[in-house]
Amino acid sequence: MANERSAPPLPLTAARIGAPRSLAPRARLHTRIPVADRFREDVLAGLAARPKRIPPKYFYDERGSRLFELICELPEYAITRVETTLMERHRQEIAACLGTGVWLIEYGSGNSRKSRLLLEALRPAVYMPVDISLEMLEHAVRQLALDFPWLHIEAVWADYADAWELPQSGPQARRVAYFPGSSIGNFDPEDAQRFLARTARQVGEGGGLLIGIDLKREVDRLTRAYDDAGGVTAQFNLNLLLRINRELKGDFVPERFRHVAFYNEAFSRIEMHLQSVVHQQVTVAGRRFCFFAGEAMHTENSYKYSVQDFEALARCAGFRLKQSWIGAEEPFAVLYLEVS
Ligand SMILES: C[S@@+](CC[C@H](N)C(=O)[O-])C[C@H]1O[C@@H](n2cnc3c(N)ncnc32)[C@H](O)[C@@H]1O
Repeated sequence: MANERSAPPLPLTAARIGAPRSLAPRARLHTRIPVADRFREDVLAGLAARPKRIPPKYFYDERGSRLFELICELPEYAITRVETTLMERHRQEIAACLGTGVWLIEYGSGNSRKSRLLLEALRPAVYMPVDISLEMLEHAVRQLALDFPWLHIEAVWADYADAWELPQSGPQARRVAYFPGSSIGNFDPEDAQRFLARTARQVGEGGGLLIGIDLKREVDRLTRAYDDAGGVTAQFNLNLLLRINRELKGDFVPERFRHVAFYNEAFSRIEMHLQSVVHQQVTVAGRRFCFFAGEAMHTENSYKYSVQDFEALARCAGFRLKQSWIGAEEPFAVLYLEVS
């Protein structure tokens, strides 16, 4: 994501080093979120920037997470369907690549739906879901603990774009990271490479990465996936304004903005924006910001890769491609890489 810069290592604060909290008999939650008012800082800085921008990680409040679930069901949005089909179809082969009894670390785990497909076949020593949305993470962990009572869960409430240390609790084993949903596409390529290099350090020599990549395809189909006929993606994008109103005492009127999504060919990326339909002033956390009519606030990038481009990027970060599974119906790839 163009807006999502990799932050330097964070200062240790009480929140970061606080003791883990128990969520179920074999499930604990660790906190790696450094400061409570990061949302405020990022929104105020983004509204003051030229062009204005808000990082996409802030889409996922409770309503945003629910809207994302609806997006996954849309006929126009094939990513979730194709990736899930690949995981189901090749489950045994994927599990054999990853190896049983590993630490499975999932970045941006959300409802952990895709990991569920692997858990029985993998029987990981530890499952470590990592998410920025605390409500979603707690809910997913409690459900997993009920459905997989044998599973040892060490959940981490964190921003995966930050540099943070993995909790060391639980039986030690080879580490494998999982990053589904083509969320890597939200990073600019340089930030994606930095993220991959950090992941390589987290899993260590011989560790692995299973990752979902949305591939380049015909522009019309790509654009429709981010601007569906029913307007669900528009609601998802506009929900950011409601979240700012609620959490930062904002006075955005969502009807004065419209959702815009297009493919930027030069950068091979879908861009999402919120465009002001009138000249207006907005107050957030006591500060005033001016939008001119037609001004766009950048809210998401979603880069599309070829397998070869992504392989080159991952190689610079220390990973070697071991195996790939490509969607038959839609151009989407699940790749397995190892640190060597
Ligand atoms: C697009 S959803 C993907 C969910 C699931 N992994 C899938 O593939 O369907 C993105 C998830 O990642 C989380 N997320 C987004 N940005 C994040 C960040 N910077 N750090 C941690 N979690 C993040 C969101 O809260 C949400 O649960």
